[in-house]
Amino acid sequence: MTETRTLLGIESSCDDTAAALVRGVPGQARVLASVVEGQSGLHAAFGGVVPEIAARAHAERLDTCVRAALAKAGLELRDLDGIAVTAGPGLIGGVVSGVMCAKGIAAGTGLPLVGVNHLAGHALTPRLTDGAGFPYLMLLVSGGHCQFLIARGPEDFTRLGGTIDDAPGEAFDKTARLLGLPQPGGPAVEAEARRGDARRFAFPRPLLDRPGCDMSFSGLKTALLRTRDGVVGAREGLTRQDRADLCAGFQAAVADVLAEKTRRALQLYLAEAPQMPLLAVAGGVAANGAIRQALEAVCTEVGVPFSAPPLSLCTDNAAMIAYAGLERMALGRVDDMTLAARPRWPLDQSAAPMLGSGKKGAKA
Ligand code: KG4
Ligand code: ZN
Repeated sequence: MTETRTLLGIESSCDDTAAALVRGVPGQARVLASVVEGQSGLHAAFGGVVPEIAARAHAERLDTCVRAALAKAGLELRDLDGIAVTAGPGLIGGVVSGVMCAKGIAAGTGLPLVGVNHLAGHALTPRLTDGAGFPYLMLLVSGGHCQFLIARGPEDFTRLGGTIDDAPGEAFDKTARLLGLPQPGGPAVEAEARRGDARRFAFPRPLLDRPGCDMSFSGLKTALLRTRDGVVGAREGLTRQDRADLCAGFQAAVADVLAEKTRRALQLYLAEAPQMPLLAVAGGVAANGAIRQALEAVCTEVGVPFSAPPLSLCTDNAAMIAYAGLERMALGRVDDMTLAARPRWPLDQSAAPMLGSGKKGAKA
């Protein structure tokens, strides 16, 4: 029987400083505490995440975040069985801050250190939330990433396809910027879209005419820019309704592309005749209600269960890192003080590298 373990997780790969405690065994674990300290305020004036500011803020806040998570769980360091930390991919300064913090705690306590791939953290979330069994189909859709993966094991992922340029979260953030909405753009655009008419403006559905599961979202933001300028030129400004309709049209285009490509990815996955088929979604964009609904509709149509984590486990958090660490430890994988921070770290090492560069640097 696998040993029950309690792990501290540390996440600092982008603009959220996070610490969490997770206890259990693979496929059956629970979150004891999860603390996420966002940095949107620090980057607001710059229209995007500034890597140096992010790294400094992580370094300043990591220890208090860890302390807060321990206090929330009513635990002390001596109650732990290991320290899991995001070792990449991500903004390197932030990743280094987290890895150094984890190494310090490991050195001071003698606890095992486990380096975790941030993407594996997202991709294993349905095992934490729903105890999902392998193999399941994962749509990982966030600010820096967008890919379909067949998750076959905690360290065994096959990529079926992904974005060839921007990630959808990036497109949401750029759309918000173009329309004068706050960052992160996803929630702001979603809120506007609720009041909007998605049929007023026609946005493209890129790459739907091509076979396979690859996607492209960079053309959408150009289309948004042109459409916005068309409206502004005609009326010398955007009304509230214009803004809402632009958001609704943009969001509907993203949802349609993700839904259609999901249909194709499901076909490839189901061809392998999995015993307990499942489509799971993870990453920040999975917090979007309209996108969740579109994906759920595809699942209903195809007859496959759908799993989407609670919103707090969609966006970056350390519970997913602690959980992924638990899975790695159960496989006997621990790291030592040579653990390095990696800006790039693809989940499927055998797949060809993706093109383009996202908010977190080159696509992993
Ligand atoms: O997973 P995440 O926290 O960080 C990355 O690993 O990238 O995802 C952040 C991204 C941001 O681009 C944000 O705008 C987007 O997720 N996001 C959303 C929503 N909430 C967050 N996008 C669309 N709708 C949302 N409700
Ligand atoms: Zn993420």
